[in-house]
Amino acid sequence: MDKGKRIFVAGGAGFIGSNFIKYIFKKHKDARILNYDKLTYSGNLDNLKDVKNNPRYGFVKGDVSDAKKLKAAFWEFKPDYVINFAAETHVDRSIHVGALEFIKTNIEGVFNILELVKADRKIKKYVQVSTDEVYGSLGLNSKNKFREDTAFAPNVPYAATKAGGDMLCRAYNKTFNLPVIVTHCSNNYGPNQYPEKLIPFFILRMLEGKKLPLYGDGRNVRDWIYVLDHCEALRLCLLKGKPGEVYNIGADNEMDNLQIAKLILKYFNKDESWLEFVKDRPGHDRRYAIAAAKIKKDLGWRPKHDFRKAFGATIKWYLDNPAWIQRVRKRTGVFNPHIDLWKGHALKNK
Ligand SMILES: NC(=O)c1ccc[n+]([C@@H]2O[C@H](COP(=O)([O-])OP(=O)(O)OC[C@H]3O[C@@H](n4cnc5c(N)ncnc54)[C@H](O)[C@@H]3O)[C@@H](O)[C@H]2O)c1
Repeated sequence: MDKGKRIFVAGGAGFIGSNFIKYIFKKHKDARILNYDKLTYSGNLDNLKDVKNNPRYGFVKGDVSDAKKLKAAFWEFKPDYVINFAAETHVDRSIHVGALEFIKTNIEGVFNILELVKADRKIKKYVQVSTDEVYGSLGLNSKNKFREDTAFAPNVPYAATKAGGDMLCRAYNKTFNLPVIVTHCSNNYGPNQYPEKLIPFFILRMLEGKKLPLYGDGRNVRDWIYVLDHCEALRLCLLKGKPGEVYNIGADNEMDNLQIAKLILKYFNKDESWLEFVKDRPGHDRRYAIAAAKIKKDLGWRPKHDFRKAFGATIKWYLDNPAWIQRVRKRTGVFNPHIDLWKGHALKNK
């Protein structure tokens, strides 16, 4: 990244965005960042308390689907780089609450950002942060992994809307020659993740003395990556990534949900009677696995965090930050809104 450059971060108050902002300030002391975030239930300015007084950091509360407000913030800041984390991100919500907000943020929001990048023309790079879920599902016994040329096959509304945003990025690069990069990362874990997602959700269940619910047989596989390894990959994409390219990001760490649950039980000294199997999620993808050879070869990226150590440190972070948990609970009412959706589902171990 050039010296003193200005980065417009959309969705920087969430899990990955806030880790990214703190990481960039550590690596690039002279960077300037504007964080444009709607502060939905998962957006949390507490995640950024370490940087809020940094004169090089600014915050605007705004919605990416509000083209007028986005434009005003964008033109006033005059960014050199743009990175978009803003998204509705929870698969369960996209199924049970509805997909409209997902369409507005994950597709219309991306369209609004692309239009600004198109109008500006001085933007060096726009990185669209996306997910491996756009590729659909792999067989449990297959040796295949998602590559950059794997066809999109989203199975849930969340993934379909992310794929829609990614397609727009591709089209704006091909049609208007915009310097857009799309990344597809696997499941992240680390501090500051809203506790509806598997790992913090399970940790908080343990703290509340509740069992760990697993969808179906618990054998759905995810390819886990520590959030700061993802942030470094994104930094390299901004710095050295080739416009128009797609990069898949993953740490070769496939584990099924049952294995994750057992690790958490072990940490809390609980036996397997603390597991409960609940009715499977509709459209539940069986396995995700990322082939990250391209970003390793082209940008020299390597994941640096050992899973066991980073996973232990992540559990410890939630234990050490009861005030963060308390505030999330207070601000968002229930921190697992979808938990109620399990009511009425037959529990095998009940
Ligand atoms: N968490 C993962 O494991 C993972 C893996 C791969 C890719 N991703 C992608 O990374 C990005 C960030 O994910 P996350 O886990 O940090 O999500 P998150 O839910 O923790 O954060 C999303 C952020 O976006 C903001 N936001 C939502 N709608 C907005 C809107 N309309 N306008 C402006 N801001 C809005 C929220 O307030 C929040 O701060 C998403 O695009 C997601 O698809 C996440």
